[in-house]
Amino acid sequence: MMTQIQAAEPSTKPQKPTGYQFYRDVLGSPKYIVAPMVDQSELAWRRLSRRYGAQLIYTPMINAKMFVDAGNKTYRTANFDLIHGEEGDPKTDRPLVVQFCANDPEQLLISAKVVEGHCEAVDLNLGCPQEIAKRGYYGSFLQDNWDLIYKLINTLHVNLSIPVTAKFRVFPTVEKTVEYAKMLERAGAQIITCHGRLREQRGTNTGLADWDKIKAVKEAVSIPVFANGNILYQSDIDACLKATGCDGVMSAEGQLYNPALFAGIDNIPVDHPDYDSDENILRRHPKHADLALEYLDIVMELETTTSVSAIKGHLFKIMRPGLVRETDLREKLGKVKIDGKRVKEGLKWYRAVCEEMKERMDRDAKAAEGTPLKDLITVEPITGIKVMPHWLAQPYFRPTPEQKKAYGT
Ligand SMILES: Cc1cc2nc3c(=O)[nH]c(=O)nc-3n(C[C@H](O)[C@H](O)[C@H](O)COP(=O)(O)O)c2cc1C
Repeated sequence: MMTQIQAAEPSTKPQKPTGYQFYRDVLGSPKYIVAPMVDQSELAWRRLSRRYGAQLIYTPMINAKMFVDAGNKTYRTANFDLIHGEEGDPKTDRPLVVQFCANDPEQLLISAKVVEGHCEAVDLNLGCPQEIAKRGYYGSFLQDNWDLIYKLINTLHVNLSIPVTAKFRVFPTVEKTVEYAKMLERAGAQIITCHGRLREQRGTNTGLADWDKIKAVKEAVSIPVFANGNILYQSDIDACLKATGCDGVMSAEGQLYNPALFAGIDNIPVDHPDYDSDENILRRHPKHADLALEYLDIVMELETTTSVSAIKGHLFKIMRPGLVRETDLREKLGKVKIDGKRVKEGLKWYRAVCEEMKERMDRDAKAAEGTPLKDLITVEPITGIKVMPHWLAQPYFRPTPEQKKAYGT
């Protein structure tokens, strides 16, 4: 492999927008950001998300070790389809950040060069805590190898025509977290996203993100910082921005369960007397079966193939409040089998389930007509989190082990 890496001197100042200049002039000062999500922040989802207020979106993580191989067309096209020109299309899929995981600066640079003309920045994943990341030595497992992280970021900073950004998890102490963030900035990251959870906080141990650590990071660096973690409702976004002082809020799970998480957020403050009018609740929490059908329409109209697993994952999450009640539909959805090469032909099976769900949810909504939606909101006893009427899109939150214990379950 030909080495094209320039000497990675910290003093090197490439002619490209930096920090706040990049954030404001190139990205348009985004505050509402959709997280990188493997098999879930794919093109179709990004289109839907932008319609509902997302101002910046990250692609799912791409593994540079695989993507670097130009001969592996299947991996390349499945992860960033350059053939149809829809991914990273300046009119419909921007601003966009393409995220990679890597542990080899040269592989990362060569991979990033392939997409640099199709996005605003390239992000380095320093947060993935999964076993597969441990085996592959990437994501949060690089967290203890600051020299390598510096090289990875600085190589892109010096050699790429667009900025490099980084997304990371916190350490057990504020001091180490802040030192780490400063190192990322020194290496050349122009925006950093701080996920306020430790590497160990995953699966049933996910728990809450620590906004205090995010705040400390924001105060310690002079580049824009996005806060990530604990965003379920629109009201959490304002709270997070206030608590952390961050420039933007990134959401993953909250936005997957309710793609309208950011919809119309700047139109009405949380303390406005009409905040909980039916109209405003429906703007923030549209009917989930309608969103599912809209998503399928997007999958249908794209030339770029959407993976079957992505579609299925989205439908299960968007319609979750309905599926936990309508168990026959949940079973039906689980049983749909589609040939990955003929996705569009198979979409009718998914559509049939969503349409049936829509019919049942519209029936329930009609039966509740006359009662303001805000009076139909209940509280989940273990977590104390609001539960919207079951026909509306809404977050799903697993109780933390502490909450379960306190509740005696
Ligand atoms: C389905 C799914 C896929 C994810 N894939 C990625 C990924 O590709 N890259 C990454 O940096 N983080 C990934 N994450 C982590 C999220 O980006 C985010 O940091 C984490 O879920 C915390 O945010 P949340 O509390 O809003 O969910 C993923 C999360 C989920 C739920």
